[in-house]
Amino acid sequence: MVVLVTGATGLLGRQVVRELLERRHQVRCLVHTPGHERVFSHRDVEVQYGSVLDTKALKNAFYDVEAVVHLVGIIRRRRRNDFDEVHKEGTANVLAAAKDAGARHFLHVSVIGAANDQAYPYLYSKWLGEQEVLNSGIPYTIFRPSMLFGEGDEFLNALAGLVRLFPLVPVIGSGRNRLHPLAVDDLARCIGMTLSREDLKCQTLELGGAARMSYNDLVGEVAKAMGKRRLRIHLPVWLMRIVASVSQGLMPRAPITTDQIRMLGIRSVAELGEVERVFGFTPQPMAGNIDFVNSVGIADSIQMLMGSMPRRIRDH
Ligand SMILES: NC(=O)c1ccc[n+]([C@@H]2O[C@H](COP(=O)([O-])OP(=O)(O)OC[C@H]3O[C@@H](n4cnc5c(N)ncnc54)[C@H](OP(=O)(O)O)[C@@H]3O)[C@@H](O)[C@H]2O)c1
Repeated sequence: MVVLVTGATGLLGRQVVRELLERRHQVRCLVHTPGHERVFSHRDVEVQYGSVLDTKALKNAFYDVEAVVHLVGIIRRRRRNDFDEVHKEGTANVLAAAKDAGARHFLHVSVIGAANDQAYPYLYSKWLGEQEVLNSGIPYTIFRPSMLFGEGDEFLNALAGLVRLFPLVPVIGSGRNRLHPLAVDDLARCIGMTLSREDLKCQTLELGGAARMSYNDLVGEVAKAMGKRRLRIHLPVWLMRIVASVSQGLMPRAPITTDQIRMLGIRSVAELGEVERVFGFTPQPMAGNIDFVNSVGIADSIQMLMGSMPRRIRDH
């Protein structure tokens, strides 16, 4: 089966491509930034270049495509309309190209918490993207994960940077809000399995990992994996909003944005046991599976604090 993957060079995309190749699919990747295809050290994938906002490039890329895995997403905006453009219009463009090609299954990755609420621009735009999928007429499966963890992820590696640099790890707010981390390769496995599951067509699946965890738990887990003992220092949300807002004005890529701080307060959990129920396997716990955080050195930590993700860490 020819499967087209958008966002193939991203954290999740790389694992999805690996999973699809293992399942002997013919994989075509839409690569946004020329050169980023270097993350595929092999020559087993076909590469087409283009943005989801470029309908001509999409038309050229989608011939003979039987299924689409649409993973494009941005978590930071550079301009006011970025989120809606990429998540709504981009998704609409990809759906139109998939429809023209006669694709029979559209797998779309959204996020837990996507909702019709403009107070949260990222989540609102992800909801708009879901609406495009629901109204497209193409059989779809929507995945709504909470946070994803795995080698190259920005969340735990940034936390590792804080653990590396500071004896007291800064936490915004109480840190008690719950997330439901899922290993990125477990989600990729679910996506791979879904391509042969007629029963999952026209379904939306909220998926979380082995355990629900608070931000404070995540700090503890990362410190444990690094063999460090760390206390936390809790910083008031209002203060960090000001810091984020000023640094967004001054830095090309602030370490955290005001949008992200607002989202820290949202509970982001799925039903427990959903991966087992739908896919029949147990997701990996975080404990024992995040040794990659040890590769974050002092120079990497400073670079991340300045808002840029070292390529060495991201592309590993
Ligand atoms: N990571 C998480 O914790 C998490 C949690 C919940 C949901 N999700 C969702 O899961 C999906 C995958 O996330 P991820 O963490 O793998 O993201 P990621 O690592 O940031 O990767 C995003 C991918 O999208 C591509 N892209 C961005 N703008 C594009 C455009 N205009 N046209 C074509 N491609 C474009 C990027 O290519 P370039 O780098 O070349 O721009 C990259 O390959 C997203 O939809 C995200 O919202 C992620």
